Amino acid sequence: MTTYFVSGTDTDCGKTLVTTGLLRLAAQNGLETVGLKPIAAGCEVNDGVYHNADALMIQQAMTAPLDYQDVNPVALLPPIAPHIAAAEIGMTVTISQLRALLQPGLSYPADLILVEGAGGWLVPLNDSEFLTDLAGVLQMPIILVVGMKLGCLNHALLTQARIEQAGLVVAGWVANQVDPMMSRPAENLATLQQHMHGQFLGYIPHLKGDDDTERALDAVAYLKLPPL
Ligand SMILES: Nc1ncnc2c1ncn2[C@@H]1O[C@H](COP(=O)(O)OP(=O)(O)OP(=O)(O)O)[C@@H](O)[C@H]1O
Ligand SMILES: [Mg+2]
Repeated sequence: MTTYFVSGTDTDCGKTLVTTGLLRLAAQNGLETVGLKPIAAGCEVNDGVYHNADALMIQQAMTAPLDYQDVNPVALLPPIAPHIAAAEIGMTVTISQLRALLQPGLSYPADLILVEGAGGWLVPLNDSEFLTDLAGVLQMPIILVVGMKLGCLNHALLTQARIEQAGLVVAGWVANQVDPMMSRPAENLATLQQHMHGQFLGYIPHLKGDDDTERALDAVAYLKLPPL
């Protein structure tokens, strides 16, 4: 069983696109997969039950038949920083709680488990912990999604430096062309290739699909599986 934590250079950089893409690619290769979204802020409410779009996409892309609550144990309503959304309803979420809530998923006998973070690397979980401390306590290697746009070199290298400072490893990274108008994408990609550690898992061009699901399906063709 191999578990990776999928983080990125920022919110909206393509973490869900890459997470679901890798889960589908693994399934196409006959592997059993689990995808997890420990905490999600930004939900739809149906009959009083909260569902987050990322978690639903992950649940659809993975092979294990886990319940929604096992995929996304903490679902918060407003699309804002998770610790602020939690505080607004008098809730404090901790790493040890998340770890316990994720047990069904983390202990599922899968070949590949992907855990999608929220936002970028240093997203606070509460007053003293960051969400990515979860990767630290579970010693998960990181897959870093670089959202290709002006400024992404600084974002990518700062994030990688912080990950390594925390004693973790960037095992793989993906360059994802979120901004179709970015100047000199090839030169920027070459610079990333010079500086990023871990395996290059692919360059995803700007995708033309009509919605998130279509783009997520299109992304599979551009990805390579991380070491298993
Ligand atoms: N290469 C691409 N081409 C076109 N659209 C893209 C591309 N990558 C991502 N997108 C779109 O950008 C949006 C953000 O992508 P995604 O949801 O994967 O980001 P995220 O990092 O998971 O965001 P969050 O921080 O909210 O979890 C989505 O609508 C997605 O379909
Ligand atoms: Mg996401």
